[in-house]
Amino acid sequence: MEIVTTVTELREKIKNWKREEERIGFVPTMGYLHEGHLSLVREAKKRSAKTVVSIFVNPKQFGPAEDYQIYPRDFKRDADLLEKEGVDLIFCPSVEEMYPAGYKTYVQVEDLENKLCGHSRPGHFRGVCTVVLKLFNLIQPDEAYFGWKDAQQVIILKKMVGDLNLPVKIRPMPLIREKDGLALSSRNIYLNSQERQAALVLYRSLELAEKQIKDGEKQAAKIKQSMIDLISAEPLARIDYVEIVDVQTLDSLEKIDGDALIALAVYFGRTRLIDNLRFISGVIEK
Ligand code: PAJ
Repeated sequence: MEIVTTVTELREKIKNWKREEERIGFVPTMGYLHEGHLSLVREAKKRSAKTVVSIFVNPKQFGPAEDYQIYPRDFKRDADLLEKEGVDLIFCPSVEEMYPAGYKTYVQVEDLENKLCGHSRPGHFRGVCTVVLKLFNLIQPDEAYFGWKDAQQVIILKKMVGDLNLPVKIRPMPLIREKDGLALSSRNIYLNSQERQAALVLYRSLELAEKQIKDGEKQAAKIKQSMIDLISAEPLARIDYVEIVDVQTLDSLEKIDGDALIALAVYFGRTRLIDNLRFISGVIEK
């Protein structure tokens, strides 16, 4: 496995693989890897000749009051995990390598970037799109793997790829959970034991929504309210949002009569967790 930190060296490696017409699968991450990340890596390995993982805690996607400085980092452990998975190359640039002094160019996906998480994290998706487009340009993957854990990120990046005619296929992958239902996240380590226990209410609220949809409930407001009631009954939970939206436009739905995304963000102490359920072609995935 090669570990590359500079754009020049990366371009050299990619050029050689392209010459050999090797298919490149790419998994962008911010490191502190868990089974959610590794599920993407395994799928990439299965489908492509060469697998590239980037590890870069992207400052442009964190707000000024957010956790950029304290975001968990453990490169040695990440590299060991990726080596075991048989990854070909890790790209782990410095901030200066990605954003040299005088950096000025950003990518925005209008409207979509301001909804759901974008509402409480202004500029977040502008940072995500900018770094992902840069990484796509550098790595030139045939396929890139993203988790449904970050549903809005998947939807926005698909839109970016379509709108900008990028020659890369976005492959969204299932959300991986702990046995008790908590979605795996690098941020879960911020939770103390009471918060960790309280956070199970998120999965329970999605199960409640699932049950209502299966029982034939179509009124989004009713489902949403029952989720809000359940989460609000947990003293350690503070709701940022609970929304039921169209999977393409992210606009609120009144009725669930086709595809829908049920997405939520909730604070436990200072930690903001997100989770979601997708209802697509009559099938519920969570
Ligand atoms: P990060 O949070 O490290 O996540 C990297 C990838 O792993 C994302 O596609 C995310 O959706 C996926 N992932 C995280 N937890 C998961 C889980 N429990 N199940 C399945 N997939 C999961 O998302 C980012 O980094 C950044 O925004 C990035 C795309 C790298 C741009 O900086």
